[in-house]
Amino acid sequence: MSFQIMGTGKAHPQFSLTNDQLSTIVDTNDEWITSRSGIKTRFIATTETGLELTATASNQALANAGIAAADLDLIICATLQGDNVTPSLACMVQQEIGAHCPAFDLNAACTGFIYALDVAAAYLDSGRADKVLVVACEMMSKHLDWNHRSTCVLFGDGAGAVVLQKGDGLLARVLTAQSDTEQALLIPGFNNINPFSQLPHRPNVLSMSGRKVFKFAVGAMVKDVKKVLAQAGLTPAQVKMVIPHQANIRIIQSAAKLLGFTEEQTAIGIQHYGNTSSASIPLLLDDLWRQGKIQRGDIIVLSAFGGGFTTGACIIKL
Ligand code: ACO
Repeated sequence: MSFQIMGTGKAHPQFSLTNDQLSTIVDTNDEWITSRSGIKTRFIATTETGLELTATASNQALANAGIAAADLDLIICATLQGDNVTPSLACMVQQEIGAHCPAFDLNAACTGFIYALDVAAAYLDSGRADKVLVVACEMMSKHLDWNHRSTCVLFGDGAGAVVLQKGDGLLARVLTAQSDTEQALLIPGFNNINPFSQLPHRPNVLSMSGRKVFKFAVGAMVKDVKKVLAQAGLTPAQVKMVIPHQANIRIIQSAAKLLGFTEEQTAIGIQHYGNTSSASIPLLLDDLWRQGKIQRGDIIVLSAFGGGFTTGACIIKL
């Protein structure tokens, strides 16, 4: 059972911020950013809200699937945080696109899209839903310290969506979580405004230990992808494309090489989008789908890691 992807969509802000422009804000340069991360530009919201991007990506996916929002039985929105704590982004987009089904947000950091696919599969398998919208939206620009060169150059804003229906396209999946006790990847909660609190104030911006995350990421991707390939009884040569989470081109290339995927099989979009957290996989999925680089019947591998730490991989027959 599980699902088949009916349609895909994406959205990003208008403004594309270049490395040269960033070098006027913080002490950095195009050579450092390109060689360390592979990023050339990233889209950064100026007037756009998370809701606008989520709605645009969702409407595109519905149009591509050829179904109306009213036909949806469930909306799952993967996000670190929507425009508000409540209402959820999923509830807001439900109203915006004209759906009437249950809707909720899911936070598994950069692995959120793969976690959301797994939840959607469970709803479809159990017969509780026939059509599910999974949309990932991240406004990373609001989580960054724009004075901190080692983080603000790496991220971007965007959204990607898929519409799913019952089918037999999910061939294998693995999800993991392990507590990041050393807080190698952290965005603290809101500023503490409770007048009785004696807890220290923590600015709610992203911090990370880049090298620790890097090491963890390569190992986790290799382990997860090997597991799903074994589950599905497939070899790398039978896979049309692997679409990895886009955090760093060196992470992607190291993992792909260790797994035996060729350059042609490895999807890379980080040069245009930066790291858009959970939106990075569905953004690329939509690009590849619309460019005809992946087609019905192709086998694709998705793999992600993120804060938590969470990791996940799955194999889908389109
Ligand atoms: N421009 C110029 N120099 C910089 C910049 C910058 N933007 N940022 C840091 N530097 C300097 C540092 O200060 C350091 O200088 P020093 O040696 O004088 O102290 C030097 O560059 C090297 O810094 P490192 O952190 O050691 O560089 P590294 O090669 O490890 O690359 C990077 C850093 C790109 C962050 C890398 O570690 C990485 O990509 N890690 C994984 C990050 C990741 O996956 N994040 C995911 C976040 S969320 C998610 O998607 C799950």
